[in-house]
Amino acid sequence: MVTGAFSYTGKYIARRLLSMGERVRTLTGHPVKENPFGEQVEVFPYNFDKPEELVESLLGVDTLYNSYWIRFPYGEMTFERAVGNTKILIGSAQKAGVGKIVHISITNADEKSSLPYFKGKRIVERFIQEAGLSYAILRPTVIFGKEGILINNIAWYLRNFPIFGIFGDGNYRVQPIYVEDLAELTIDAARKDEDMVVDAVGPETFTYDGLVHLIKDKMNSNAKIIHLPAWLPLILSKIVGKFVNDVVLTKDEVDGLMGDLLYSRDPPKGKTRLSSWLEENSESVGIEYTSELKRHYLPRQKY
Ligand SMILES: NC(=O)c1ccc[n+]([C@@H]2O[C@H](COP(=O)([O-])OP(=O)(O)OC[C@H]3O[C@@H](n4cnc5c(N)ncnc54)[C@H](OP(=O)(O)O)[C@@H]3O)[C@@H](O)[C@H]2O)c1
Repeated sequence: MVTGAFSYTGKYIARRLLSMGERVRTLTGHPVKENPFGEQVEVFPYNFDKPEELVESLLGVDTLYNSYWIRFPYGEMTFERAVGNTKILIGSAQKAGVGKIVHISITNADEKSSLPYFKGKRIVERFIQEAGLSYAILRPTVIFGKEGILINNIAWYLRNFPIFGIFGDGNYRVQPIYVEDLAELTIDAARKDEDMVVDAVGPETFTYDGLVHLIKDKMNSNAKIIHLPAWLPLILSKIVGKFVNDVVLTKDEVDGLMGDLLYSRDPPKGKTRLSSWLEENSESVGIEYTSELKRHYLPRQKY
């Protein structure tokens, strides 16, 4: 079972499993969305409010690859609810006799964090570790790839605006991992006997300032990059959000970035370099804005 096989990371995991001859099911909040895999993937709704049906959909599953989470609270969706839903999912996997859970978390997940994303991720990790199932927890930083949002939208911004505002000094770090590499790591982790919690970061470390300059160079953008007090680009992103009908970035996300939470001290596990990928995809990255709200909130089931 791969959650979100029609969305981003789950799609790459599902595709890789299918290419290995595995049978794949998916859980999604968009069960009627176009299914890129056709009949190869069995589709089930998340059904967090009907756990018996969720258990039913998990019967016979060896491995649950879980990518379910939210980027930010919006409307009725909150981090508390995402934690609760994930606990229901894990409990259902236990009841259905699932052998292993491979869970995608985040670098520096921490129950003491003031940021609900990082706090909630650690609460869920601990729940999994205490559930008695075999587990592998992978902690990526920013995930890049064709459907990725952050890198694409920085590129879109650099293509369309004369000025790009960096939050503060821009010296905080990111280690983006390629979505295919992450998919490979999750499947490798599923095949290991031992339980694990590992950071899954890419081979290049950038300061945020370096990352924005790299994207600007690869896009041949003439935008001027300037450093501003963090609140100012955040306000500007809210204004842009009105035009693109999206939540471009939240204060929590900026705080996480500036707090170096997308940086790991562990050796990189991903192989693909963002700089090479951007070079190869410079014609397509950032041509269109990618909207989180469109992907996950409008219109969808209430999960
Ligand atoms: N993307 C990144 O750069 C990044 C960085 C670090 C960690 N992560 C973690 O990696 C995992 C996969 O991330 P991803 O970006 O690839 O996720 P995704 O595919 O966009 O979404 C993963 C799953 O969560 C569901 N979901 C997402 N937002 C939701 C919302 N607001 N309400 C209800 N359901 C929602 C999706 O539902 P549908 O099936 O209906 O689409 C999908 O099943 C997540 O756990 C994320 O926290 C991501």
